[in-house]
Amino acid sequence: MREFQLTDTPADIVKVYPKASDFFKKAKVDFCCGGDQPLQTIIDKKKKPIDGQQLISSINESYQKWKEAGNKEVNWDEVSPSEVVNYVLENHHHYLTEELTPLSQFVTKIYRVHGTHHPHLEELFKYFHQYKMEMESHMIEEERDLFPLFEQYEKNPTEQLKNRIFNLNETMIKDHEYVGELIQKMNELTNNYTLPEGACNSYRITYERLSELEQNTYQHIHLENNVLFKSVS
Ligand SMILES: [Fe+2]
Ligand SMILES: [Fe+2]
Repeated sequence: MREFQLTDTPADIVKVYPKASDFFKKAKVDFCCGGDQPLQTIIDKKKKPIDGQQLISSINESYQKWKEAGNKEVNWDEVSPSEVVNYVLENHHHYLTEELTPLSQFVTKIYRVHGTHHPHLEELFKYFHQYKMEMESHMIEEERDLFPLFEQYEKNPTEQLKNRIFNLNETMIKDHEYVGELIQKMNELTNNYTLPEGACNSYRITYERLSELEQNTYQHIHLENNVLFKSVS
């Protein structure tokens, strides 16, 4: 069975074993925007040292159990770009389209009701809505301008199309960095979505849904940056 090494990149590890992202998130190791350097290099650059050997062993242990439970990994290198696009649309764009408006109502509600006693909710409200606005326009650009090019390129791989894809990818990667920062700020602000004592039901639902949003966003960006955008080279 495959064993991950510290020389592998977090992006490649998550590509094979998506649940490894939980370990990276806990260890504060970026696997989506800055995840294509060897894990050891990322660890060496960290201000707060972490035990890389222990991290990789925990991932390998969990991966082994996951495989033994009959799970199959997706070989993304064999999936066509248009299939990756469909996967992203179904699992990430659709999710955001359905989720952002109701979640906005929750974020707004807890800010209005509890903002006086919990001042961080004002910043949370602002970051969330910056994220919402950015992602909504970002998804329009991807769906309207970028994604159709992958299908065209599959049928007719011209140099001109390739350059258009490269240029748009670059803009999208910058957007990803920006939304990644907003997600990180929301996480820090809420201490990784830890509820204050006596939090009401709306507070709990908001934090749970924001935490899910974070997880979904990291997978979303990872798939685009590390699988889809690299499918054309
Ligand atoms: Fe996207
Ligand atoms: Fe994107």
